[in-house]
Amino acid sequence: MTNATAVSARRDLSQAPLLVAARGGAPAHPPVWFMRQAGRSLPEYREIRKGTAMLESCMTPDLVCEITMQPIRRHGVDAAILFSDIVVPLAAAGIGVEIVAGVGPVVADPVRTVADVAALPELSLDQVAPVAEAVRLLTAELGQTPLIGFAGAPFTLASYLIEGGPSRNHERTKAMMHSDPRTWHALLGALADIAATFLRAQLDAGVDAVQLFDSWAGALSERDYREFVLPHSKRVLGELADAGVPRVHFGVGTGELLPAMREAGADVVGVDWRIPLDEAVRRLVAADPTAPVPVVQGNLDPALLTAEWSALEREVRRIHAEGKAARGHIFNLGHGVLPDTDPTVITRVVELIHSL
Ligand code: CP3
Repeated sequence: MTNATAVSARRDLSQAPLLVAARGGAPAHPPVWFMRQAGRSLPEYREIRKGTAMLESCMTPDLVCEITMQPIRRHGVDAAILFSDIVVPLAAAGIGVEIVAGVGPVVADPVRTVADVAALPELSLDQVAPVAEAVRLLTAELGQTPLIGFAGAPFTLASYLIEGGPSRNHERTKAMMHSDPRTWHALLGALADIAATFLRAQLDAGVDAVQLFDSWAGALSERDYREFVLPHSKRVLGELADAGVPRVHFGVGTGELLPAMREAGADVVGVDWRIPLDEAVRRLVAADPTAPVPVVQGNLDPALLTAEWSALEREVRRIHAEGKAARGHIFNLGHGVLPDTDPTVITRVVELIHSL
């Protein structure tokens, strides 16, 4: 598909609050969506997923469309996030990876040597054609609600590939990074290509914004992030610049990394709950006083969705007020919805935010 057809495929949603806020404008109401809004907190999700493995679900367009729509219908959030997973493009390229319930991605043959890296396959657009098809179904069904596409950033993908699964300390990952930087950079380069192709497939099919998840980047020092990670994430985001859609960059525990993550080229900086939004803005401005004041996304602690309503309301109001320090604020959690969250509370939080 050429770029011209890609651009004409995208809906004109210039007034959608999420996109207005992402560009630093004045939205009709404060926009809100939730990371992991499509998933296990919803009984209708658990019902429809019965008997279908996670990765198979992600490659079944009508199922992806239905699951992505569920939180839109229920909560009235200001954006849909494509139902998929960061390891979908790895599996599509032929890398042996499963998503084990309650565990996360598990890799059959972890990537540990220079030969393992050299053997990694590339991803072609046709291998993720079902994802593109799901995007086309969704843009036809969503009306005026924007659709956010996403990919895992090279570092977070590398951690799963090297460790073989979820890791608390990322020790093998950090060991490779420092002991064998050539192999490390070759691996991150290959993963940057895969992430960029996965995002390109979604953009060509019509997504309205993208988020690059570097969920585990907060495990790194700023020095290591800059040397071993930033150039690769920057390349992924740079390759998408021509699409002209907002690019969000998010990680957990990244208070010390926010300026570096912004340098990766993000239009919107995702912030976790450990640092107040006004402090995040202060750090971003201090790091580059000549750049425009940043647009931020975040940052309610997901655990607080289980707190007493009065306590939760106080936190939502605080975050909304702190977000005023930014040029634009997209309300979200500081990480994903926890599986035991009562979905009726999420709906009530959306109503509260829209009333502010
Ligand atoms: O609603 C949405 O946000 C869209 C769907 C989405 C999923 N994964 C679906 C999913 C998104 C955006 C992701 C991204 C993702 N996947 C990230 C980055 C965001 C983050 O949470 O930091 C990461 C690190 C992964 C890897 C991954 N996949 C993990 C850690 C898990 C959870 C393991 C578990 O079961 O506790 C998964 C599985 C997964 N991805 C589920 C869903 C709905 C649960 C599996 C299921 O429902 O069977």
